[in-house]
Amino acid sequence: MFNNITENDKKILSKFILNSDIFTQSTKVKQFEKLWSEWLGVKYSVFVNSGSSANYLTLAAIKILYGKGEVIVPPLTWNSDIVSVIKNGFKPVFVDINLNNLSMNVDQVLKNINKKTKAVFITHAQGFNGLNEKLLKALNKKKIILIEDVCESHGATFKNKKLGSFGKISNFSFYYAHHMSTIEGGMVCTNDKKIYELVKMLRGHGLLRESGNIKMENKLKKKYNKLSPNFIFMHAGHNMRSNELQAVLGINQLKRLDVNNKKRVTNFDIFLSLLDKNKYYIDYDIKGNSNYAFPLILKTNSIKQRDLFERALTKDGIEFRRGNAGGGNQMRQPYLKNFVKRISFSKFPNVEKIHNFGYYIGNSPYLNKKKIIEIVRILNNIKCI
Ligand SMILES: Cc1ncc(COP(=O)(O)O)c(C=O)c1O
Repeated sequence: MFNNITENDKKILSKFILNSDIFTQSTKVKQFEKLWSEWLGVKYSVFVNSGSSANYLTLAAIKILYGKGEVIVPPLTWNSDIVSVIKNGFKPVFVDINLNNLSMNVDQVLKNINKKTKAVFITHAQGFNGLNEKLLKALNKKKIILIEDVCESHGATFKNKKLGSFGKISNFSFYYAHHMSTIEGGMVCTNDKKIYELVKMLRGHGLLRESGNIKMENKLKKKYNKLSPNFIFMHAGHNMRSNELQAVLGINQLKRLDVNNKKRVTNFDIFLSLLDKNKYYIDYDIKGNSNYAFPLILKTNSIKQRDLFERALTKDGIEFRRGNAGGGNQMRQPYLKNFVKRISFSKFPNVEKIHNFGYYIGNSPYLNKKKIIEIVRILNNIKCI
């Protein structure tokens, strides 16, 4: 992953700093939110200080509007997806993933739906689409909320429509290595005005005045007339705001997001076409993909072979992450020990495969074909023991 903050980003940022007085959340944040909504094809977006905050506020809003229950989640995701579920009082229900898109197995999702199921929280992992028609139809029919985590898949599509525009709410991250960066940052997106206003309040301490709904605000100010109208804390909110500097960066980065995504997809195709399919899994479902990294799943199940692989990459200076997104099987992490006591990991063979033999390495728009050929040569030359 190369740094995705360019000289032009720095110039634009410097100019903004020299010519402005307000740096806390204001008009640039609003402008970025509007541009992001237009890019994604949704009505509303709320810029927050990280993708994890986007996850958290999403579940907090669902709890307030629809109540608690079970949320179906993948074991291959970032920890904040699961943390946001448990910290908001929902029960996480895990289902295994597919190897070909690293997302939840739809048949298993449907099998785990019951009367208590409140939402399905899908992670479109590593730039792949995790949706299909069967899932969308079933959730629609059963009136179960779909939440999309698109933190790793900006610009990926299903049926030519951007991921993040299908669910009731969707989340994005703009951290360093993602498709675009605001240094830290995230977005909550929705077509639902009530959710939009609630998430804005939750982002800003739970304050009524953050909602932007003047009619509702005036009504509630009358109801709570013993309170200072500026300080009506409607909900147990947090401060998860971002700021003007990050919004300026986001606005500038958004201009080149589509071009960069195209380069990443071209890189991905070159990479996959050259990889030795006897050593690495290559049967990904690449329709609508937008990968910021190259996933590498070793065909072997040998720890010795894996050690050799890791040593070879380290020697040649190729940075890698074992376990792919979030380090593999989240259920194995200590923070979940009380939630997974009765779960047998052998019922989750695909996430276990990724946990032990799945990796990713960087796919930057600044990579060129020559470099990719060189990387693949190193990968393919690792000898089998
Ligand atoms: C799937 C997923 N969700 C959420 C996040 C959290 O985003 P952030 O790092 O901006 O908090 C990440 C981070 O990489 C992620 O990969």
